[in-house]
Amino acid sequence: MRDLNSNSAAMSEELLAWYDVHARAMPWRVGPADRAAGSYPDPYKVWLSEVMLQQTTVAAVRDYFLRFTNLWPTVSDLAAAEDAEVMAEWAGLGYYARARNLLKCARVVASGFSGEFPDNYDGLLKLPGIGPYTAAAIASIAFNRPETVLDGNVERVMARLHDIHDPLPGVKPVLKERAAELTPSQRPGDYAQAVMDLGATICTPRNPACGICPWRDPCAARSAGTAAELPKKTPKKPKPTRKGIVYLAKSAGGLWLLERRPDKGLLGGMLGWPGSEWSDAPGPNPPFEAVWQEADGEVRHTFTHFHLILRVMTAELPEGFNQNAAQELIPHRDFRPSSLPTVMRKAFDLYQGL
Ligand code: ADE
Repeated sequence: MRDLNSNSAAMSEELLAWYDVHARAMPWRVGPADRAAGSYPDPYKVWLSEVMLQQTTVAAVRDYFLRFTNLWPTVSDLAAAEDAEVMAEWAGLGYYARARNLLKCARVVASGFSGEFPDNYDGLLKLPGIGPYTAAAIASIAFNRPETVLDGNVERVMARLHDIHDPLPGVKPVLKERAAELTPSQRPGDYAQAVMDLGATICTPRNPACGICPWRDPCAARSAGTAAELPKKTPKKPKPTRKGIVYLAKSAGGLWLLERRPDKGLLGGMLGWPGSEWSDAPGPNPPFEAVWQEADGEVRHTFTHFHLILRVMTAELPEGFNQNAAQELIPHRDFRPSSLPTVMRKAFDLYQGL
């Protein structure tokens, strides 16, 4: 194994040479050849992609990113969009607070910064929904600042490179230091993306492809034969299971009864079916009196902190139903199941099978 500290410049060069050949193509990315020719990525697209990529894979984000940038080509276009339209387009990506913060941030940038994102870490960090990871990612990728980007991929790469066995999340600050030592002042934007690509394609969680890794020589875990067991993680508490009931109702005239969820809380700001609380023993609370029929089967969905099992009840919505302020009556032709959060779409799919 080589001395990593004295070799950090050589190591970043090796990784960049690998990236020059193997960079993944992504719709928001300016690849290394174009970047060398002087192209910079659009900060708006970098920001949008990085917010979408939090907790979500590149494959899942691609189509959402293309739809968003097609509908709203600039941050000012997004800032001017209706909340409900943005939330509907975000549906299915999960972690809906991200979408609410996305809009807040777009509006701050559009109105307070003339539509230009701040070009440095500290300025970016002050914006709504932009934490240390996203600020570092935008500063490095969009503005070529030597900031250290630490996502799950980079954590894994650093834990292996240095054969660090202390568990996540406690060991994060150590991994950040190790990552910072390697961050070069030359091409920091390409470098940030290169480490993430390395983690996503070679230094993978299972079966890492050490034989073709540009860092195989300096990698301490490869020498020790421990790469596949790293990073260690503190065991998580098992998730509890909660239960709930949702009520799907359509009128003979084809109106669906939906409800906008409060901004705060789970699925905040999203449209969904009226329903019960989610608890150990939810009581029935139908939105109107009817003979409710239960759909066969149940919906199962897992959130960050719990599993959910939903019963799905259905009835015909009476004509002239008087909706409350949170409720919306949506004509069938305008109703897009894809604009619902995944758990609510699953309930719709179950009902379709009725
Ligand atoms: N994961 C999150 N952001 C990424 C990026 N810019 N490149 C590669 N993987 C990523």
